[in-house]
Amino acid sequence: MRKVLVLNGPNLDRLGTREPDVYGSQSLGDIAQLLEEIGLALGLAVEVRQTNDESELIGWLHEAADNSTPVILNPAAFTHYSYAVRDACAMNSAPLIEVHLSNPAAREEFRHTSVISAVATGTIAGFGADSYVLAMHAIARG
Ligand code: DQA
Repeated sequence: MRKVLVLNGPNLDRLGTREPDVYGSQSLGDIAQLLEEIGLALGLAVEVRQTNDESELIGWLHEAADNSTPVILNPAAFTHYSYAVRDACAMNSAPLIEVHLSNPAAREEFRHTSVISAVATGTIAGFGADSYVLAMHAIARG
């Protein structure tokens, strides 16, 4: 089965209780379970990880690049300023899809900039947990 890494940045371990009006009431565990089920139907082995540590996230992106593993990435706040995460994303020859639960373009101005988008295969934002589900379908088709 093809593998997909679903990587999540800072504060996404707090989903469910973190600003539920913005990010919804599902926990990251709930989303992981949903993605694993959808992965089975699509023939994708899904591994969901989360970290609050930029260095750990970069290590996972290196691992994905070394193995040409497709990535679904919610870089969270790193989206807006981490050139190091951006450069790590740029190394991957496999599809890398940037996802966001909310629509950052409709929020505060500092969220309007993504330093990741230019090196992502595509970006899906604003559909809550479905942003991840849509990204899974995009990878399954690729
Ligand atoms: C987010 C949007 C970011 O602006 C924010 O910093 C997050 C979550 C989202 O999924 O909507 O932590 O990436």
